[in-house]
Amino acid sequence: MDSLTYVNQNKQRFLDELFGWLLIPSVSADPKFNEDVFEAAEYVKKKFEEAGAENCELIPTDGFPVVYAEKIVDPSKPTILMYGHYDVQPADPYELWETPPFEPVVRNENIYARGSCDDKGQVYMHVKAFEYMMKNDALPCNVKFIIEGEEEIGSKHLDDFLRKHKDKLKADVVLVSDTSMIANDCPSVTIGLRGLSYMEVEVVAANRDLHSGTYGGAVANPIQVLARMISSMKDENNHITIPGFYDDVVEYSKEQRDEMAKRPFNLDAYKKELGIEDVEGEAGYSSLERATIRPTLECNGMWGGYIGAGAKTVLPSKANAKISLRLVANQSSAKMSVLFQKHFEKIAPKSVKVKVSVLSGGEGVITPMNSTAYEAASMAMEKTFGKKPIPSMEGGSIPVVAAFEKILGLKTALMGFGLDTDALHSPNEHFGLFNYYKGIETIPYFFQYFTELSKK
Ligand code: BES
Ligand code: MN
Ligand code: MN
Repeated sequence: MDSLTYVNQNKQRFLDELFGWLLIPSVSADPKFNEDVFEAAEYVKKKFEEAGAENCELIPTDGFPVVYAEKIVDPSKPTILMYGHYDVQPADPYELWETPPFEPVVRNENIYARGSCDDKGQVYMHVKAFEYMMKNDALPCNVKFIIEGEEEIGSKHLDDFLRKHKDKLKADVVLVSDTSMIANDCPSVTIGLRGLSYMEVEVVAANRDLHSGTYGGAVANPIQVLARMISSMKDENNHITIPGFYDDVVEYSKEQRDEMAKRPFNLDAYKKELGIEDVEGEAGYSSLERATIRPTLECNGMWGGYIGAGAKTVLPSKANAKISLRLVANQSSAKMSVLFQKHFEKIAPKSVKVKVSVLSGGEGVITPMNSTAYEAASMAMEKTFGKKPIPSMEGGSIPVVAAFEKILGLKTALMGFGLDTDALHSPNEHFGLFNYYKGIETIPYFFQYFTELSKK
């Protein structure tokens, strides 16, 4: 039986099992959900066991455990290392969800729940694709699964994990479904991800909150100083003003940019879907380029002063912000964090004291198209979508992908089935039923083609 037939015979069960996982609020960022994060790990471990995997275990790290499962059919055959994550982003603000984030439902052919696309839904496609291959004698090679619980907080312990278990993780390629495709009728294989540096800053003026009448106008207002400092980090062309920031950025040739611009993109539809009159970004680049091959600096949150009901005339003592840099492949995250920190300290006026802490980071990646990894993903998608996928650069980050190359020496195939419009990290995150089932149908072909290509 082929994978499509198997999917069609098991649709409801595949959905019910995923729902069981989506019910568990495995938010890694918030300690309140610690037990749920462990429970989500246990849940998927059990599902791997039920699907026929061996040596399933939770491997401890200094943070949340990594779920490990494997099936070794023949040590002389190639081994695919599949990676994904079982943790999810916080669901806040809850009131903006049409149905509660941890009560999965199907609406308009989409599964609505936090984690439905990022990444539980996409990981679960692999569990069911594996089940199909086991039940139908269609597993052509060895497979090892590692599903981590700290991706959404920067995969802090994963480098150590890879180093420590290097032998156990020996493989020929990494397969990841944690990215998007261009559209359901326009499949794509991801060839680039941005890196990240994430900072939290604090600006302190006076040693206590002050009466804004008595002191206002005479002592620095840290909120306003912080706002000014953040604004100053982009100029009128939306160029980032941190000295040295662009030094390592790879510039693409006109030919390469023309090639990338061939992928379908409708600016009007983009604006409409987001409810904006106009876009904004670095002068000289298209929206797609701004969100993929160009670095950026974004304030992710900002707080300070009085935000309760009514008016309180106060001159706050301090203000804070979370600021992230999205980096392109050749920029080092550690180096950019230092540049940011130095610059932030330098532009602070004497009237305030500032503190910068680096919360997390990760390197960008470019995956070569002339690799077996890319080729197998491309062939698999072509087989089930009926058209050849387009290579696509993406703006998000998966910090561990660079580590797979650096620590394990492995290339990664980024074969994702989500859409940019699936509201990842937002209220009403969803994942199309089409996409979920298509993923399960497609993954076994990756296994088949990768195994065949490896023989040559
Ligand atoms: N799955 C995303 C990354 C992603 C999203 C790649 C869409 C391509 C398209 C991942 O879970 C994620 O959100 N990563 C974080 C990394 C951070 C927490 C270190 C990100 O990009 O913000
Ligand atoms: Mn993800
Ligand atoms: Mn995410």
